Amino acid sequence: MGKQFWKPGNMLYPLPAVMVSCQRENEKPNIITLAWVGTVCSDPAMVSISIRPERYSYDIIRETGEFVINLTTAELAKATDYCGVRSGRNVDKFAEMKLTPSPSQKIHAPGIKESPVNIECRVTQIIKLGSHDMFLAEVVGVDVDEDCLDQNGKFHLNDTGLIAYSHGEYFSLGEYVGKFGYSVRKNPPAEKPHTAKGNRRNRESERKNRTPEKNAVKSGKRNKSAKQR
Ligand SMILES: Cc1cc2nc3c(=O)[nH]c(=O)nc-3n(C[C@H](O)[C@H](O)[C@H](O)COP(=O)(O)O)c2cc1C
Repeated sequence: MGKQFWKPGNMLYPLPAVMVSCQRENEKPNIITLAWVGTVCSDPAMVSISIRPERYSYDIIRETGEFVINLTTAELAKATDYCGVRSGRNVDKFAEMKLTPSPSQKIHAPGIKESPVNIECRVTQIIKLGSHDMFLAEVVGVDVDEDCLDQNGKFHLNDTGLIAYSHGEYFSLGEYVGKFGYSVRKNPPAEKPHTAKGNRRNRESERKNRTPEKNAVKSGKRNKSAKQR
């Protein structure tokens, strides 16, 4: 089977389709859906987002130097698409999609309560590239949904129903195929059948069984289980 050679174009998929929230002081918060997004450094934790200057959100993020990356799930797929086809110039996307702004810890811009992970970011550099400008930003904190923590404080991100964006379409994540480093492990553990589907209800009941004291200890552990790549 041969290959066709195509002119340059964006064909790097799948990508996350995230909802980025931002806000100017004394104005309503806004949400823009972005797929041209990436993790660019582990330490310091840094991300990039690329935005066309004509977007309503562009000036808000440039002027405030802040934004929140909100991870998206199958439950949030419709809102994710809506926030990518309507402008905050004309609509209040939080209100239209019945989303709740949730206060951030380190920045003024709010996150989206319904998203399992809110990544608080401060812009460090804006790089003009062409159609899009790239905002490089430092991650100044991450808010994670307590319902995704188990009794040992382990964060189950892959049970939240995350979605991916590939070639114009949204997908739920599919079957589990392996773990980081599994290709070189000598004694791989028996594989458990596993799908990346929401399993919140079990975790909610686990959480309810915890005492407030235990909850406080658990949340203190949050970042320790995160692997650095
Ligand atoms: C899945 C998806 C991904 C998108 N990715 C980007 C992107 O990476 N950069 C960008 O400038 N616009 C992107 N857009 C378009 C903006 O989200 C869209 O123009 C939005 O209406 C802008 O909102 P605003 O005017 O309120 O800022 C994307 C749209 C969708 C649906």
